[in-house]
Amino acid sequence: MGFNTTAVHGGFVDESAKAVNYPIYLSSTFTQPDTEHEGEYCYSRGNNPTRASVERAVADVEGAKYAIATASGMAATSLILELLNQGEKLLINNNVYGGTWRFVSNLLEKRGVSYEVVDDFNTYDFAKADDNVSMVFIETPSNPLLDVTDIRRVVEEAHKRGILVVVDNTFMTAYLQKPLDLGADIVVYSATKYYVGHSDILAGLVVLNDEERYQRLKFINNTLGGILSPFDSFLLQRGIKTLGVRLDRHQDNAQKVAEFLEKSDAATDTYYPGLTSHPGYELHKSQAKGAGAVISFRFNEDRYDLQKFVAALRIFAFAVSLGGVESLICRPSTMTHESFSRELQEKIGITPNLIRLSVGIEDAEDLISDLQQAFDAARK
Ligand SMILES: Cc1ncc(COP(=O)(O)O)c(C=O)c1O
Repeated sequence: MGFNTTAVHGGFVDESAKAVNYPIYLSSTFTQPDTEHEGEYCYSRGNNPTRASVERAVADVEGAKYAIATASGMAATSLILELLNQGEKLLINNNVYGGTWRFVSNLLEKRGVSYEVVDDFNTYDFAKADDNVSMVFIETPSNPLLDVTDIRRVVEEAHKRGILVVVDNTFMTAYLQKPLDLGADIVVYSATKYYVGHSDILAGLVVLNDEERYQRLKFINNTLGGILSPFDSFLLQRGIKTLGVRLDRHQDNAQKVAEFLEKSDAATDTYYPGLTSHPGYELHKSQAKGAGAVISFRFNEDRYDLQKFVAALRIFAFAVSLGGVESLICRPSTMTHESFSRELQEKIGITPNLIRLSVGIEDAEDLISDLQQAFDAARK
């Protein structure tokens, strides 16, 4: 079955009332059969039918065996980082979501886990990695610079050393890129973004095929409690039904906006893997079905005033996050990526004039006109 059919019909079927949408089971606890047996559902931290339904749908659209729905994307990332034991080491690419970096740079070492920031996994020599490296965590395309990492290469090299490969696939979703099919071990998502799609709730996902690891992660998540509520599970499942059609529109618009920016003198550099000028264009095409809808660009502060530009925008909202139907704009250095030190920001290119767009599903002409009129208003 195709992606959209699976997405629309995914999850459980409501056998009792025959509702086309699987219901919200707002119950913390479930009656048990007898003193000797536990029912399928016992307590909603461990398992809840509405959550189990969306987990089934998520695994199916990914073509995977298991999914775990968590309270946010960070709950998903912190859950998989729980797999790291004292004395082990994590390799992580240099530009990742700021919250992921905040976790790694503030909390890992306290647990006796070390980390190494890798500038370019496409050339990284895994043979020289320390013996205690047990996990690689990558985002591709990365947030916010849209760097593309060769998932197949990382998997091949990491697996030679028995290193687990985790991919944060938030920017792509299973509709555009399937890291497990490319050999990765675990995929994590901020489902807050494209999966939910309407900027209303936070949610996270962990998707994988290995049963033992799945059981371990279920155990940890039940123990820690970072689960997705039944209500939010329902909204997530609703969002998944339109994921494919939304993304088609998102990326059609993004391509047009990126081409507009590339020609504009208000942007000195435009980063979007759908542009042939992007250094990762071919690589990205070889591992994903589309370029997504996040674009970053360097605002030309010699000729334009950034504050005036932002103030003049009428459609793009100046807000963090991405992946919702409405277009957003943000400045990573002071917003999503403020947890990176100034020096690190400078080193990897998260400069104060780097601007990130999440292109929504409005009419592309309106989005381009909005940017153009704001540039005009900001011209020095
Ligand atoms: C790539 C990426 N991963 C993870 C997260 C964290 O997700 P959440 O905000 O749902 O906790 C984000 C949030 O912006 C993100 O962009």
